[in-house]
Amino acid sequence: MSEVPNDIYTEPEDVDVDTLANLGPLTGLAGVWEGLRGIDVNPKPEGPRRQAFLEHIDLQPIDPQANGPQLLYGLRYHTHIMKPDEVETYHDQVGYWLWEPATEALIHTLTIPRGQAALATGKAARTATSFEVVARRGSTENGICSGCFLEQAFTTTEFRLKVTINRDGSWSYFEDTILIVKGQTEPFHHTDANTLTKIGEPEPNPLART
Ligand code: HEM
Repeated sequence: MSEVPNDIYTEPEDVDVDTLANLGPLTGLAGVWEGLRGIDVNPKPEGPRRQAFLEHIDLQPIDPQANGPQLLYGLRYHTHIMKPDEVETYHDQVGYWLWEPATEALIHTLTIPRGQAALATGKAARTATSFEVVARRGSTENGICSGCFLEQAFTTTEFRLKVTINRDGSWSYFEDTILIVKGQTEPFHHTDANTLTKIGEPEPNPLART
């Protein structure tokens, strides 16, 4: 929300509880997805390593969320990634995609089990089919927070994620996590990209089921 109103407590009335009908630009992300052609570029002592990966993402609607007058609609997600032909988790991530219809604000939160969390923000109109969110180290509104080891050894200065909803109903992403790796002078671009195809429909949010 751009300006904070005087009344920060009163919640909106007549809220439509059907989240799937109010996700705006996030509508095309709801559901269960699989991506078989992921590519990760990650930091290794000998230099950047490219690795193919398989991805499973579950994105389910949550009940509308009010912060006083601010009303957010969103999806809770879990991403699970493996290398082809391996059962071990290669990357795991949980968080929320949120959209505020009144301001077209987008929020993407991510938590990964390296001991790292980020809140990336952007803006997208209701019918947008492409959007980007960004988090920057040091920001208190769209920041990145890392545990002590990562903060010193792989200082994460920026996270950028671009999503494109494709005409055939699939969607693609490209993300760039910029790391200052201890002992290196140039920033490292830890990138990931994939295209996701739907393998399951979303469940309506709890309030919409009653
Ligand atoms: C598709 C998504 C991603 C995959 C498959 C992935 C995978 C990897 C891999 C394989 C490494 C190399 C280190 C190792 O071998 O353990 C790595 C390092 C790292 N990743 Fe990711 N990553 C992804 C997304 C992210 C995101 C979104 C962030 C944070 C915003 C992140 C933060 C880091 C950091 C800080 C490191 C350095 C720590 C280290 O190398 O041990 N990654 N990632």
